[in-house]
Amino acid sequence: MQDTIDVELVNINKSFGELKAVENVSFQVPRGSFFSILGPSGCGKTTTLKIIAGFEEPDTGDVFIDGERVNGIPPNHRRVNMVFQQLALFPLMTVTDNVAFGLRMARVPKRDRRKRVETILNKVGLSGLGDRKPSQLSGGQQQRVAIARCLVLDPTVLLLDEPLGALDLKLREQMKIQLKLLQHQVGTTFIYITHDQSEALVMSDQIAVMNNGRILQIGPPDELYSHPVDGFVASFVGENNAIPGIVSSINDHSVKVKFNGFEINSPVLPNIRVGSEIINYIRPEKMQLLSIDDQSSTLENRIPGIIQDVIFDGAVIRALVDLESGNRVMVLITRTTDVPQPVSGEKVFVAWTTRDVYCFPN
Ligand SMILES: Nc1ncnc2c1ncn2[C@@H]1O[C@H](COP(=O)(O)OP(=O)(O)O)[C@@H](O)[C@H]1O
Ligand SMILES: [Mg+2]
Repeated sequence: MQDTIDVELVNINKSFGELKAVENVSFQVPRGSFFSILGPSGCGKTTTLKIIAGFEEPDTGDVFIDGERVNGIPPNHRRVNMVFQQLALFPLMTVTDNVAFGLRMARVPKRDRRKRVETILNKVGLSGLGDRKPSQLSGGQQQRVAIARCLVLDPTVLLLDEPLGALDLKLREQMKIQLKLLQHQVGTTFIYITHDQSEALVMSDQIAVMNNGRILQIGPPDELYSHPVDGFVASFVGENNAIPGIVSSINDHSVKVKFNGFEINSPVLPNIRVGSEIINYIRPEKMQLLSIDDQSSTLENRIPGIIQDVIFDGAVIRALVDLESGNRVMVLITRTTDVPQPVSGEKVFVAWTTRDVYCFPN
């Protein structure tokens, strides 16, 4: 059985003068899912969201909400609501009145209103705080008021435009998890946009990675992480070490890649030739530090370098290593007691297996 699709974009294009803000964007958002659009600032995320909400009309392409084509239908007649980065709560109104505002506009009777507001405040974990003003709440609580105010209208889809952007780091970390739990609990479809890959990885069922107005890849977080389709996705989603080089020979299962007097092995790419310029990507956790006199390791690739810095982060350690080839890489080590800790200034080998490399044309 096919999932019900709540939102579908088909070949959406939108230009502002010469600038193509959104180019040939298509995707489907299944009912009840947490769908993120992830990309750097200016890549077209907000424009895409506004096209779904009806605040912008596409130049070409179709928008479907709940199976109905909504091109030309004004925002207040689409069953979507948008939470903006600036929460725009009414400062002089209580939490209850803020949340009830949309219901009042829709002329929902007072008794109904009170009941619905109470239910939703409960769901977002704000029961008992209805009489406060926004200024008497923490940043995270204000965030939840803004979300409650939309959810109370019972939209098919909630659109969230970088809603955690204004919060400090610690609160953002907490809210990431709370938002995901909240979405799961209420079951409303969320379309969430962010430039922060860690937010998208933690919260999403599906992520669409966007750059320069185009969607490069759509998939669940673990798929984007382990099977990026190009160098942009490989370096934008999660951390990665990039090592550019030139293909010097091609075998059945691997190619040799030369760079700055060193040679490593990489997987075979389609259409690759001797002389092709490629970039190799190796995740920090797939690299290992070996002592300089190590003879036992069977890893196919190793390059000598000097540890520049060691960063402790509780359970893991990050070592920044300057390779003799001129590349700087980060190696992630899970802390265990039986292995000596890396030390700044130490000479080491950085090693990895060819299987853990993705490479793309440069
Ligand atoms: N109303 C507008 N008029 C002209 N240019 C715009 C308008 N809205 C957005 N843009 C431009 O379109 C591009 C995409 O913007 P936007 O969708 O806001 O990106 P994002 O949300 O990913 O940061 C940017 O270059 C931005 O300057
Ligand atoms: Mg934006």
